[in-house]
Amino acid sequence: MWEEDVRLMREAGVNVVSVGIFSWARLQPTADTWDFGWLDDVLGLLHEGGVGVDLATATASPPPWLTTAHPEVLPVTATGETLWPGARQHWRPTSPVFREHALRLVRTLAERYKDHPALVAWHVSNELGCHNVYDYSDDAARAFREWLRERYGTLDALNDAWGTAFWSQRYSAWEQILPPRLAASHPNPTQQLDFKRFSSDALKDYLRAERDLLREITPDVPVTTNFMVMGNTKGMDYADWAEEIDFVSNDHYVHPGPQDRDELSFSANLTSGISGGRPWFLMEHSTSAVNWQPVNVAKRPGELARDSLLHVAHGADAVCFFQWRQSAAGAEKYHSAMVPHAGADSDLFRAVAELGATLKTLAPVAGSEREPAKVGIVHDWDSWWASEQDSHPTALLRYRQEALDWYSALLRLGIRADLVTTRSDLRRHQVLIAPVLHVVPADLAKTLTRYTEQGGHLITTYFSGVVDEHDHVWLGGYPGALRDLLGIRVEEFGPLLAGDSVELDDATTGTLWTDRITVTADDTDVLVRYRTGEQAGRPAVTRRPSGRGTAAYVSTRLGVDGLAALLPRLLAPAGVESELPAEARGSVEPVVRRGPEGRFLFLVNRTDDAVPVPGLDGEVLLGDTGDDGALILGPRAVAVLRQPAS
Ligand code: GLA
Repeated sequence: MWEEDVRLMREAGVNVVSVGIFSWARLQPTADTWDFGWLDDVLGLLHEGGVGVDLATATASPPPWLTTAHPEVLPVTATGETLWPGARQHWRPTSPVFREHALRLVRTLAERYKDHPALVAWHVSNELGCHNVYDYSDDAARAFREWLRERYGTLDALNDAWGTAFWSQRYSAWEQILPPRLAASHPNPTQQLDFKRFSSDALKDYLRAERDLLREITPDVPVTTNFMVMGNTKGMDYADWAEEIDFVSNDHYVHPGPQDRDELSFSANLTSGISGGRPWFLMEHSTSAVNWQPVNVAKRPGELARDSLLHVAHGADAVCFFQWRQSAAGAEKYHSAMVPHAGADSDLFRAVAELGATLKTLAPVAGSEREPAKVGIVHDWDSWWASEQDSHPTALLRYRQEALDWYSALLRLGIRADLVTTRSDLRRHQVLIAPVLHVVPADLAKTLTRYTEQGGHLITTYFSGVVDEHDHVWLGGYPGALRDLLGIRVEEFGPLLAGDSVELDDATTGTLWTDRITVTADDTDVLVRYRTGEQAGRPAVTRRPSGRGTAAYVSTRLGVDGLAALLPRLLAPAGVESELPAEARGSVEPVVRRGPEGRFLFLVNRTDDAVPVPGLDGEVLLGDTGDDGALILGPRAVAVLRQPAS
């Protein structure tokens, strides 16, 4: 089978594979025995076939002999249940016993393959945190306390940050502190938020341990680990992890729905932001259906290629899939692959091979970086974690959905936007949209104020600027941290019940949230007012000049339609418009990468219909033109124009 695999890889243009990710039990059948023969054969065959290997450290899933001998490596849930073997990733991020055995495997692998000609990169573990990001064991409790000592220094500082005067929670000794395990009611909010921060850091610490060992043994082999920037995977702060690895790699899977390809674009765009605009590696996505959704929808003709090329547009210089060959047995046997159960004589494998050929024609794109868009959308893990905690004005708020709605609205207008984080150089964008930027420490408030004073145009939304880094509310009226900048003051939130909505005087509709806004500055303009509901007649959308820029506030959830209607007014001060011909706006997503080989304008057809895209200059690197030479995008097609780099 392996010889056939390599032959088919050559046919499909495959030149890199990840190998051995879940192979610990095969490589080390018992604590004292090793079996590398099969892996030697695989690497040899791949190298002969001209295929490079992103070799896994194989530590993603501990073997039964380890968990039988050391059940203390098994994670514990908030309710005290043990996560037993039988699936995968059943290990505690802070377990010293697990780490000792894992690093022994890493060292053994690295020593054996350090000079292997097939080795092109190291793949640490797999999707760190996918199933084990929150562990509530005694190991986690011990590590959490150490993390807290490091963060706060003294118990007084911790008690103050956690507001432990409330509900008689004051700690008089570090040993009393626990992870937020199942409690009689809602655990302390800052304890919860710090536990999220700690849990992301604990996995980052584990990542560093494997990475440092690999760098000691193979200093010239780049190290990566596959992130999961997708959907509601929110446990790991990847913006914080990105500098720990030599190149960012990401896994993405489509969640079928009305915004599913917008979400793919959003995630790929954010991955590029996390990677600082530099190219990254799509480690995994699917050729067709996955196996872990309620209904696992097959991809339609053209979607394998379009999904792949949409990632490339946003900076992916590798397009890899989970998995090469569909398994006959095991937990994911119904998950699609490059070679399906039906074998190579299949439409799916032919589509894979066609993609391989297409990627070869895009070789000049490799290495090019993201060309900054005029608009940036800020994505902030702290705000995501804090804004969705319990005991809030509403449990219906979804941080990432609000950001995605803004993104979809900009796609609807044919306007490029870059996903950025609070670590990015925000000044690269004339407009900065910060949806539900809930956690705004004093220094971030200063940064945003300076950004507008220097000519930037900030747009933020409801429930932004409400708390500081300790989840303490900025007092004096919402949005405390941004109140003066925005020239408004809110005394009380007005969340809406599910199914309720309010009308605004620009004929858009608000759901989820309203604010009772008082304008506090003479130069604050009211762009839109509520027309119905408790705030009828009062401001809904405001904008205030700030230095050479402006600061705008949207106090309700407008959804994609409402935001698409409002955005032209919000973008007007910055003069931001679509670069697309009018007939392509909304149907086509424009994305730009730029490098020594040129400026590459990707045009992604978001629709199932053919779309003409006239009037754009450049060499057609990929795509079709009509008789008149104008570009025509077929249904779900992607075109790439190469323009001069300068
Ligand atoms: C993740 C994992 C893979 C596989 C796929 C299935 O990306 O890394 O091992 O489980 O999901 O979609």
